[in-house]
Amino acid sequence: MSANKTATVTVNRLNGKVKSNSRLASAPAPSDAISRLKPYATVNQQALFLDDPSVASKLDWNESTQKASQAVTDAVIASLSDGSMQWYPDVNSYELIHELVKYTDIPKDYIQTFPGSDAALEYTCRTFLNSGDEVLMAGPTYDNFRIYAESCGADVVTHLGPSPFEADAAGLITAITKKTKIIYIVTPNNPTGTIFSEQDMRSVLGAAPEALVIADEAYFEFCGFTHSALTLEYPNLLVSRSFSKAFGLASLRCGYVLTDPRNIASLNLIRVGKNLSAPAQVGAIAALKDIDNIKKYVQTVRDNMDKLSQTLGAMGVDVVTTPANFIMLNVSQPETVIEFLNSRDIYVRNRSAMPQLAGFIRITIGDNIRTERVAQAFREMPAEYYQKSKIDTSVEVKIRNGIKVTLRRSPEKALSMKQA
Ligand SMILES: Cc1ncc(COP(=O)(O)O)c(C=O)c1O
Repeated sequence: MSANKTATVTVNRLNGKVKSNSRLASAPAPSDAISRLKPYATVNQQALFLDDPSVASKLDWNESTQKASQAVTDAVIASLSDGSMQWYPDVNSYELIHELVKYTDIPKDYIQTFPGSDAALEYTCRTFLNSGDEVLMAGPTYDNFRIYAESCGADVVTHLGPSPFEADAAGLITAITKKTKIIYIVTPNNPTGTIFSEQDMRSVLGAAPEALVIADEAYFEFCGFTHSALTLEYPNLLVSRSFSKAFGLASLRCGYVLTDPRNIASLNLIRVGKNLSAPAQVGAIAALKDIDNIKKYVQTVRDNMDKLSQTLGAMGVDVVTTPANFIMLNVSQPETVIEFLNSRDIYVRNRSAMPQLAGFIRITIGDNIRTERVAQAFREMPAEYYQKSKIDTSVEVKIRNGIKVTLRRSPEKALSMKQA
């Protein structure tokens, strides 16, 4: 049946019910681009439905384990009770941008806010992509971006380097074509933690002067390394940031971009400023004013990452630490490990279906209590669930851009080292 044939709808005046002639109607098909999409897989969010979600070890989506500070909570509550809820929020997020100028050291014309960095990425795709353009992603990486790009009719190409745990700018550059319109780089990468150095980023920006290069810095606060200053130099760079990770405001939905004012003007053509709610703006402003609290939390995450990786490493678990707020474990039975952890209300993310990541699970690092719960669960877990082969693919520690990163050896390299 034709999708645009109008359904006849009759109102039965006697009982007020609407009868639709469903034989003539049909649910319209989504656009071709959307029909072809493989959707982004969300986590199951079981923790939200526990009697007391605040005690759950929700370590599957790289959220903060810390409640918003009293200052942030008070500010949000005040914004809900000050009698302005019936009005649309400040569509220009004037005060938030003012605070972001101080926080980022980037001029206000280079900043725009969105209801989450996901929304920023979606608007960016809708603003810059034509159907048939190519989008190049440094993979394996955060899959949501693929949805935004493909829904605009773009063809997504994921570049995989020799190791998922080492940035491969040179390889990425060889994958650029005349059709490449956006290059998407998450740095530090989710889920592998790779960081594109300044040199890496400059080489990609220079190699694709007509493409928009996105540096997704959702995890910036955990490593302190940023490409933000390059936005003043390269009009083809856009940095996206989030209040959902270190700032712990995932449910409020707030993010922002740093990019050339001409790109902001393009984004503004479709941006709906009303969608960044007043409580989200107020919460983000209060969180920026309470930055010492965030710095303390970041230090807790760094300390607990060290502690947990040492504990698990000593038990023979194959651990990769990252400059973000998560670690990766390469285990022999990922599903069984996850089930075992779930039985103790610990929720982690299976990444083993991602390219190059067979056997990997990702665990968000947070406060001391949850870190200890994970360690304890592994102590109680049968070793065959996580123990891998005897080949030592474990880590080499390197310092990059002043940040300690641990890199996995590829099994081939480890094997050749073992045989040597
Ligand atoms: C790399 C990356 N970018 C963006 C996001 C989404 O952030 P937001 O909550 O600001 O939309 C995530 C969330 O997991 C992420 O990992």
